[in-house]
Amino acid sequence: MNRRDFLARSSAALAASTAALPARAQAGTAAPGAASVPLSNPAERDAAFRARLARDRRMLGWRSAPTGGLAQQPRLEGRWPRGLKGSFYRNGPGLHDRAGQRYGHWFDGDGLIQHWKLDDSGAARFQARFVGTPKFQAEQEAGRFLYPAGGGGMPTERAMSGPDTINPANTNLLTLADGGLWALWEGGSATRLDPASLDFGGFVTLSRELRGAPFSAHPRKGADGRIWNLGSMGPLLALYRLSPTGVLEASRMHTIAPTGMVHDFILTSRSVVVVLPSTRLGNGDGFFARVRPAPAEPIQVLVFDRETLALSRRAELPAGYVFHFGNGWEEADGTIRFDMVHSANTDQVQHLRAPMQGEMPPDDAARSLLVTIAPSGAASLSRLVAAVEFPTINPRRTTARNRYLYMAARSTAGADWFDAVAKVDIERGGVTYARYGRGWMAEEHLFVPRPGGTAEDDGWLVGTALHLPSARTALTVFDAARPVEGPLARLWLDTALPLAFHSQFVPG
Ligand SMILES: [Fe+2]
Repeated sequence: MNRRDFLARSSAALAASTAALPARAQAGTAAPGAASVPLSNPAERDAAFRARLARDRRMLGWRSAPTGGLAQQPRLEGRWPRGLKGSFYRNGPGLHDRAGQRYGHWFDGDGLIQHWKLDDSGAARFQARFVGTPKFQAEQEAGRFLYPAGGGGMPTERAMSGPDTINPANTNLLTLADGGLWALWEGGSATRLDPASLDFGGFVTLSRELRGAPFSAHPRKGADGRIWNLGSMGPLLALYRLSPTGVLEASRMHTIAPTGMVHDFILTSRSVVVVLPSTRLGNGDGFFARVRPAPAEPIQVLVFDRETLALSRRAELPAGYVFHFGNGWEEADGTIRFDMVHSANTDQVQHLRAPMQGEMPPDDAARSLLVTIAPSGAASLSRLVAAVEFPTINPRRTTARNRYLYMAARSTAGADWFDAVAKVDIERGGVTYARYGRGWMAEEHLFVPRPGGTAEDDGWLVGTALHLPSARTALTVFDAARPVEGPLARLWLDTALPLAFHSQFVPG
């Protein structure tokens, strides 16, 4: 498979999967206890969402942000920690509806970039802007959606010329050694942003042959600043290695089982570890309907040499679905260890349609597991903690053995969203929680090292959460060494932002 074939096939596959097909409900794809049958009509979805929003503040998490963006000076509560300063960027789908038409999947909305500029004094500045992709600009001008989307059912007025025609740049960000900032999706190119104004700076072309190729939303940096990433489309997997400033150094194509989404991966000091979930790409209206549960298929683990990008080892794990990993490391004998958030329910992608029609996504009972892959390929698992997502570590430990792992967590029985940040001690066992309490929907939190600190947990947990009683979003700081003591400081906006996915922090 050469690069040109990959590009041609990936564009054709995405276009076919998102083209408007006869509207029909995706009955039969939901697991017991899951959301009701997805509504295929975008106007019906919009009506159902608005009816629920009127009586359920949790739906604020999926309300669209103003298309003109926001700029505010957040109000400080508590005492801002000395030394915590820099840019906290966040990305997630922020525009779920236009002109009475609502997308069919949480992953479809246009990317809304948040920039929290944090100052030593606690005098922060906040702005949020939609990424000005050609798609966003065209639809802004028209006042309605014009293109197909992964959730299906959308009226299609304009054709796609490739994946970037519908690139919403809505999942994560990548910060570069030269100060550059990219917004990331996983179906097409990365997107350049101005780190101060957040202005759209064009799609990133890694090479002439790779123009428009999928570049996933979870690149990983090695200790030397080099960047690894993957791009997947059906049976094709591209591996990329970039310089610290984002210049392509190497790429290699592989053929894999067509799982649909390959969202994240693990980087060790020697390897790139790709985990293929128990799903298979089938037929359906829109890309996400095509990602079908395959609970009889084991999770496949593919280990590649991180310099040559060649396959070196395979392993299998029990069936399930996996989005995210915190960290991985490799021991002298070649044993690889990594954590992953695993759900035995292989229907997770379908479940994340629910809030588009005013329903809470069902709890998929995801838990964090520590995986060991022996040099022979033999795999074993141990359980770390239940009811978690969005794992992260002290970035100084990346690709080295980490003792601590932090994740958004449901810390109380019956919680219907994350209400805490879990701190897991991998070496000694045990979990402690930085708790939000009732009435909060907590999001991903990052570990920010304290300048000059050396202990692995010497730093802060920084993240956003939606406060339901006041209908406002806040950024909260916890002491990572003492999470049980509760928040150190909080920055309040005067409005609720839609829930987002991933953050990056740039000190300074
Ligand atoms: Fe992610």
